[in-house]
Amino acid sequence: MKNNVARAVEEIEDIVGSGNLSTDEADIYAYSFDASVHSSRPDAVARPSSVEEVSQIMSIAYKYEVPVTPRGAGTSLCGASLAWRGGILLDMTRMRKVKDVRIEDLYVVVEPGLTYREVNEALEKYGFFFPPDPASGDVCTIGGMVGCNASGAHSVKYGATRDHVLGLEVVLADGRIVRTGSRTLKHSSGYQLAKLFVGSEGTLGVVTEATIKVTPLPEYVSTLVAFFDRLEEAGRAISSIISKGLIPYSLEIMDNTCIRAAESYARIGLPTDAEGMIIVEFDGKPSVVSEQIDEARRIVEKFEPVSLEFSDDPNRRMQLWKARKSVLPALSRLEGGLVSTSLADDMVVPMSKIADALKAYNAIAGKYDVVIGLYGHAGDGNLHAKFLLNVTDLESWKKAFKACWEIYERTVSLGGALSGEHGVGFTKSPFMKLEHASDLDVMRIIKKALDPKNILNPGKLALEKDVDSFVYKLRYPVEGV
Ligand code: LAC
Ligand code: ZN
Repeated sequence: MKNNVARAVEEIEDIVGSGNLSTDEADIYAYSFDASVHSSRPDAVARPSSVEEVSQIMSIAYKYEVPVTPRGAGTSLCGASLAWRGGILLDMTRMRKVKDVRIEDLYVVVEPGLTYREVNEALEKYGFFFPPDPASGDVCTIGGMVGCNASGAHSVKYGATRDHVLGLEVVLADGRIVRTGSRTLKHSSGYQLAKLFVGSEGTLGVVTEATIKVTPLPEYVSTLVAFFDRLEEAGRAISSIISKGLIPYSLEIMDNTCIRAAESYARIGLPTDAEGMIIVEFDGKPSVVSEQIDEARRIVEKFEPVSLEFSDDPNRRMQLWKARKSVLPALSRLEGGLVSTSLADDMVVPMSKIADALKAYNAIAGKYDVVIGLYGHAGDGNLHAKFLLNVTDLESWKKAFKACWEIYERTVSLGGALSGEHGVGFTKSPFMKLEHASDLDVMRIIKKALDPKNILNPGKLALEKDVDSFVYKLRYPVEGV
């Protein structure tokens, strides 16, 4: 007698065709990883090509109560795209059409499997773009960005993915297809359900189409880079720029560890003895931008930078951003044998608290003797604390967990949130109760209403129960786990 998973897989194969359904060991292994520290095996991988196929797959999964986990490029840093309870991994990357470009109405309609870069390539000829700019933008998909409300370098001025999603087509747990939101720039007619699906990480439905607001490409961009001999001064300079009413195109921070990692990879002449670096950019009309750069320079100089660099040369800007976007992988090459891990990953704090947060995170890392690299999109309060760990050593993971707990506690006590751009997935689930003491129950009620059989990406977002630790189901061979 066949079990439910085997029956579901057989029926799903009839829908997508044998070339798009796999239970091969090599595929299962490849799809057991994303960019997080975790690993979990699906039973099968299905690659649908249309909303109708996704709907039929969900009806089958609903009937047999088999988990379904949607996945884009698998760039999640917190395990959001892993099949935590096995079942069907839904690879959405065959759905990659630009369905409509409506510049006069300021939107584009796309399927979820397109990458962020591909959407922007399609918009470029019209002089428009979709601004958030995640560091993984060359490869990450729109579905993944919608799933975790991704953001990035330009979110300080233009907002996160949620701020651009006007409407969605979503397949619900039982296979129903719903269209929600609108194709207008605002609406007040009922619950903002499209916004609810953004950031729900595939736990409420499978996104099959997104209507995304587009923005005119900047006419001109200019960059100011400043180096400091104290990281906190860099943080204070950032808070001060924002509090003076300037709205930068990007406003980034990097500590010494990250400067060294970026320089060792990109070799663009960054001073590796600096303790802090900020990148400030403004976009718009050249005359306005240069006034803003001058004003930012006057503010930054009050914090006694050791050096400053200005550039509006696209090649130099490209070098700087190549270096900046390399930080996450480059950190793994910095200290012999230590791997860059995404644990206390993308906290976000109120703008006035950046320097306090940086100081607290470094103190906590020191207390637990963990090496961290601090950087991020500090212009909107978003900070990455990458832990460099000996990933085969259980004690290192236990120490890292305690350090994470304190980092998240401190973040919440500063008025911040666990995640500003990557989502919660599995890695951050243990900490959800720190931030969501009173509303986690409401999230659980919504989950139950929309997914009563708990088949959509189960085990994520702390929706089922309190999770104790991320120190299991690790992708690394750790003795004692
Ligand atoms: C970055 C990714 C980790 O900003 O969000 O590099
Ligand atoms: Zn980031």
